Amino acid sequence: MKSLRWAVSLSECASNKNFEELLRRSFLCVTEDDVAQQHEFHYRDDSLACLVGRLLARCAAATSLSLNWSQVGFGRTSRGKPFVASHPDGYHFNVSHQGDFVVLASSSCPVGVDVMKVDESRCSSASAQIQRLERQFTALELRTVRNPANNSLRWRAFYRIWCLKESVLKATGIGLATNLRDYEFVVDRQTHEPGCFITSTKFLMEKELQEDFIFEESFVDQHHCVAVATNGSVPPIGNEFQRISLDFLLKDAEFINISPDLNDMDELDSFLAKPNKHF
Ligand code: COA
Ligand code: MG
Repeated sequence: MKSLRWAVSLSECASNKNFEELLRRSFLCVTEDDVAQQHEFHYRDDSLACLVGRLLARCAAATSLSLNWSQVGFGRTSRGKPFVASHPDGYHFNVSHQGDFVVLASSSCPVGVDVMKVDESRCSSASAQIQRLERQFTALELRTVRNPANNSLRWRAFYRIWCLKESVLKATGIGLATNLRDYEFVVDRQTHEPGCFITSTKFLMEKELQEDFIFEESFVDQHHCVAVATNGSVPPIGNEFQRISLDFLLKDAEFINISPDLNDMDELDSFLAKPNKHF
């Protein structure tokens, strides 16, 4: 089974000249629950990210498992990690949304992915942000994020470690951990910047090296870094995330939301009436 690394830009979706038509189709091609969940978000960007995440998950599963769109059924673990109900062991995927991107990674081994916009406005400086979250990092990680020579490089290092921690928590399905210092990352001197593809990062759990985890670190554009964690003997697939469009996701999609309660035009109006986030 081919591992997938897919990324969708929300601003690119919204600037498609057929965006409203694609959106209307999207509401019909996800489940009633998916429509209800995106409906709950106050901001348009969050609704769209939720919807795109559900389309990505279904499209990737249909592609990887040679299933029809309507045959894919999802379940969730007690901690919220989604899986394909008919293939709980042989097929794994994970989705992440942040900033302008929604990303998906799939594998035959447990996988977790996390994308983050390298946002320098989150705090007065990278050092102040690191100070604020000091308790989440080990002494070695604090050196990794504090050592870089300027503020921008320190921000990048901060988001790098953050993504790595989240990717492993998402691969195991733990999601939210109480002691993030138990999860330690050791990075080498390879530069973490747009265009990179780094697989040399080491992971220690409670100080013990975990050799069965592999990490792939890259950027999906100039501003968003991403980390994929796989737990098993699948070699890194050696390429960066593939940018895909809403058109691509809907290419072989079928209408599965035929609930009499869904008025796709009303849903579209309600979506378009939502405010945009201002990053
Ligand atoms: N394990 C793996 N994936 C999970 C999950 C779990 N337990 N629970 C949910 N997910 C998936 C879902 O697909 C979810 O999307 P959905 O809600 O649209 O279905 C997606 O992960 C959300 O991921 P992301 O967009 O990256 O959100 P997040 O970065 O806020 O993380 C969790 C979400 C699940 C990991 C959450 O537990 C969390 O907030 N963790 C924060 C951990 C932390 O403190 N990190 C700081 C590091 S310094
Ligand atoms: Mg995240």
